[in-house]
Amino acid sequence: MILSPSILSADFSKLGECVELTEKAGAKWLHIDVMDGIFVPNISFGACVYKSIRDKSKLFFDVHLMITEPERYLEDFKNAGADGITIHVEATKKVSDCLKQIRSYGLKAGLALNPETDVNEILPYLNETDMILVMSVHPGYGGQKYIEGVNEKIKFLRDKMGKDFNIEVDGGINMSNIKKVVGLGANIIVAGSAVFNDNIAGSTKALIRECEI
Ligand code: DX5
Ligand code: ZN
Repeated sequence: MILSPSILSADFSKLGECVELTEKAGAKWLHIDVMDGIFVPNISFGACVYKSIRDKSKLFFDVHLMITEPERYLEDFKNAGADGITIHVEATKKVSDCLKQIRSYGLKAGLALNPETDVNEILPYLNETDMILVMSVHPGYGGQKYIEGVNEKIKFLRDKMGKDFNIEVDGGINMSNIKKVVGLGANIIVAGSAVFNDNIAGSTKALIRECEI
């Protein structure tokens, strides 16, 4: 299991320190939630925010674009230091072009789907993607409750894609359910509020350890 802590729940006045704490505690990825106020109701931050910590961190920058027509900005997100860029299947008519463009930069191309989106919507793109991101909350905010209805989707994708494919699950994951979500077939786990609290190092270690037991 790879833990991808989401900086959406971090204290932005000391973002660099927060990221360093989770990295030292064993996280390998960093989940970066970009929101445009159109695709989702909330606005978060843009490329300049994670560009400012790029040279301080060796983590895999896992950029989750919750923006409409992400094709407009892929180059900016690449230039800011993304290692992987995930777009939403619901966000553009040019899904295939976006995935190809991301791969053409030498980055990992991810495809996300919202809780209410049928898994069949992403099937045409499986050969063009390096990771599927299953949203387990309605995107837009940290700290929401995990939607159990997505469990079948995770199981279906793991059965279909075999054991080596990356399946990331995002939203509402904490100490009480991380092991179950991994058991369903997820191998990359996003956690925001369960990591960026008053004990970042301890929370990171506990979540990782929980999946090793
Ligand atoms: C939600 C974001 C998530 C969010 C997860 O729209 O995509 O990555 O930060 O936060 P938690 O882990 O608190 O549900
Ligand atoms: Zn996310």
